[in-house]
Parts: sequence; structure tokens; C-alpha cells
Amino acid sequence: MAFRHLISIEDVSMPLWEELYALCEDIMARPKAYSLACSGKVLATLFFEPSTRTNFSFQAAMMRLGGSVFGFSEPSATSTAKGETFADTVRMMSSYADAIVIRSPYEGAALAASLYSEVPIINAGDGGHLHPTQTLTDLTTIRRKRGAIEKLTVGLCGDLLYGRTIHSLVLALSRFPEISFYLISPRELSIPDYMLAHLKQLNQKYIETTNLESVLPQLDILYMTRVQRERFDDPAKYERLKNVFILNRRKLMAAKEDLLVMHPLPRLEEIARDVDDDPRAAYFEQARLGMFIRMALLYKMTHMPRIPAEPLRDNTEGVCVNERCITRREPYLPKLAKPGALGQCEYCDKNLLTR
Ligand code: CP
Repeated sequence: MAFRHLISIEDVSMPLWEELYALCEDIMARPKAYSLACSGKVLATLFFEPSTRTNFSFQAAMMRLGGSVFGFSEPSATSTAKGETFADTVRMMSSYADAIVIRSPYEGAALAASLYSEVPIINAGDGGHLHPTQTLTDLTTIRRKRGAIEKLTVGLCGDLLYGRTIHSLVLALSRFPEISFYLISPRELSIPDYMLAHLKQLNQKYIETTNLESVLPQLDILYMTRVQRERFDDPAKYERLKNVFILNRRKLMAAKEDLLVMHPLPRLEEIARDVDDDPRAAYFEQARLGMFIRMALLYKMTHMPRIPAEPLRDNTEGVCVNERCITRREPYLPKLAKPGALGQCEYCDKNLLTR
């Protein structure tokens, strides 16, 4: 299918990834050549949830391409506060902008937005589900620092349950050759069942473990994540789990000399400050590279044609079990099951209950 929206990293085919990466490299090498590349184009940034890197790297990216940006990071200042539906807000923004970047605490929100938008929707994080532009950032970092994305043992550590960057990164890396995963988390924060089903379907090599130290010496990449406090209903549970894994300089002594330590940021205690000066710490450079790959993405997506949205009809009577699914918040949305997996919600990948 033609590339129209970026909802999941799976929307980026391997040829498109190569195209975006090559463009990103050229933008970094010749930034002046792109300084008017999006002149006259307008980006809307709809942030229903806080952000530093994603919001401002998209804004900086658009400005560096000569385009303009409008949007909000505080939805209470919009007519959402008067009860306007999510669909109507998206419809309005799509009539003003050439592309829309959207972050929401609700899983499946970007897909829902794409049903009402004439212009490309870019998922900047939908609850604890997916974060595909963080994954473009991560892939760019690995490619630049390792030369190729292949033959890597990757440790994914922390909150694998709610960590949307983890889910998108797993989907992406499992398309590259000879990648194996260590999934390192407390049992209560292990990766969701639908992600495990995906790995099994691909015969992907992975091992689940609760012990970081025991696998650290084998890793080529260690991707640390924050325990996502905002997704917990029980504050005591968060307090118990938040510091289960802390990487520090002493522990790094057991790791490979060319290990890459990555983190989507923000970090709390899970990477001690004494790691920041270690040459293996890649996370601040990773965040900067995110701006350049987002420039490549915006260059591509803001030049795509405006296509009137045709909202879909229900293809299921099932109700999503996930209370954080956008369909539970916006009940007028069409009820959609995944084609080929009729028991699975198209918006958030969780199970559907039929009455
Ligand atoms: N990595 C990331 O999504 O950071 P922000 O939440 O600051 O955008």
C-alpha cells in the first residue's frame, strides 16, 4: 500500500527507510541546501500529552526546512476543553496544515486521526502503544554508529509493558538480519502478549530475563527505558518497580567496549549520571539525530497530495478490552478489527470482546 500516514513503523517499508536515511545523511552533510525545502508548507503539532524531544525536534526540523509550525502542547487551551470531539479537532487541523504530528495518551489515537485527515498523520506516541518516529531516531543512531543494522544482540531494558518506544523498536529491528533480543524487565512489566505473538510468528530470536547484569557482557546495544509512571493506576506499584534497573559506570565495566547505550529520554534514575561521560553513552546524540531524520520525514510527508478522508464502516461488533484505547474515549469511532486477526483491535492491538 502507498505510504500515506506514519502510524506504525511497519508503515515504513525497507526501501522507504533507505530513502529516508540517505536523505537524512544528505541533510546533515548539506543543511543549507535544504533550508527552503519546505518553504510555504505548514506543520500542525497536536500534543495532548507532554513532550520535550518529539515536539521540539519536529518544530526545529520544520523551521530548518524553511516551513512554518502551529499547534498546542496544552489541549486545555483548545476547544477540546469545550467538548469538541477528537475527530472534529483533527478535521479542522487537517484543513489548515500540510501534515499533522499528534501525540495522545490514548492508544490508537493516531490511527483514529488518520480516518478524519486529508493530510498525512504522523504518530508522535499513542499512550503505551507505539512511537514510530522515535524508532526512526533509534535506527538512524544505530546505522550511523555501527555502519549497518545487522548481526546485533540487543538488550531492551526497563518498562517493556508500557514503553511505546520498545514496541516500535522491536517491530523495526525484527525486519533486519541476524538480530537477537534480550527482553529485560520485571515480570510485571514484561512485553505485551501481542508483541510476543509477533516475535514468535517471525521466529525471531529472543530471551526474556529479569537480570540485566547476567546478559550485559553479551550485548551490542543496551536500550534503557524509564518506568512509565503516567501509565500506572497504582502509585505504590510504580514506587516498587521504578528503580529495579539502574545502569551505572561500575556495571558498565562488564560490558563490551563498543556497546551502544541508548535511551529515548527522558531518563530518571535508570541511567546514573556517571554514565554520561562514558564513550558508549549514545543517548544525547540519539536525541539530536532525531531532528535530522524528522527533517527527512517532513520533507517527504509535507509534499504528499491532500486526499479527502473516507471514514471506514464498522467491520466488527467487538469492544476493545483496553480502557486506554481511543475507541473507549471517542465512542463514535468505527469499530475496527485487524484484517486477518478479527479478535484484535485495529487501533491498539489489544483483544476485542464480542457480546
Ligand atoms: N523520546 C521522547 O518521546 O521524548 P519526549 O517525551 O520528550 O518527546
